[in-house]
Amino acid sequence: MEPEFWLERWQQSQIGFHQAEPEPLLPKHWSALHLSANSTVFVPLCGKSLDMVWLAGQGHKVIGNELSQIAIDDFFAEQDLTPEVRTVPGFTIKSAGPYELWCGDFFAMPAIATRNVTAIYDRAALIALPPAIRKLYATKLTELTHGTAKTLLITLEYDQSILPGPPHSVPGKEVQDLFAINWQVTELICEQTLTLSPKFKQHGLEYVDQSVYVMSPRTNEPAKAATK
Ligand SMILES: C[S@@+](CC[C@H](N)C(=O)[O-])C[C@H]1O[C@@H](n2cnc3c(N)ncnc32)[C@H](O)[C@@H]1O
Repeated sequence: MEPEFWLERWQQSQIGFHQAEPEPLLPKHWSALHLSANSTVFVPLCGKSLDMVWLAGQGHKVIGNELSQIAIDDFFAEQDLTPEVRTVPGFTIKSAGPYELWCGDFFAMPAIATRNVTAIYDRAALIALPPAIRKLYATKLTELTHGTAKTLLITLEYDQSILPGPPHSVPGKEVQDLFAINWQVTELICEQTLTLSPKFKQHGLEYVDQSVYVMSPRTNEPAKAATK
């Protein structure tokens, strides 16, 4: 998707992906990463997700990245926080309390942004991207975290011929192809989800499969690019 697609969705408040409560799979599976409370967690394509609030509640520092300034401003306003603002080329960075949110294009993020990151949380980030971009996403994520961050990844799988994304269907094989070179990828669960946005039901999909993966770095050596 072009950046304009997402910016427009935020401008028009068409944000059906945003959840009014933290994602229930997050508290259920986060402990699988075995992180210390003071770890720094990177949340790519973060929107104004309340999952960041849950992560901060565990004692984590949260680095988020999001294209839309509206999303970031909403997040801080809804948390009753007034952020400090600084800029680096291509990014406006707003920070308050445990949050540091980078507004700008994920694919242009500098490695300095994520230098202290030891974990990644991806809900509705990989699956927001079309197939041709997902390899670039995996490569950039690996590069940003030097291939050393433990990751919790949530994906959906359904018949993409019935409904075009986003959210896109990302099968387990593709997750392996994208990440297994640098991470050991383990599927924790795959279950049908009924908590779907209305457009799935409008297209006759009563449920879709939702998977949760934990990905552990294979090595502390420099990351390799995905080959797919
Ligand atoms: C499906 S939403 C998910 C948001 C969040 N993860 C959540 O769970 O609510 C995808 C988000 O990615 C953002 N986004 C899309 N492309 C991006 C890019 N290249 N860089 C940064 N953010 C991007 C969009 O603005 C949108 O807020």
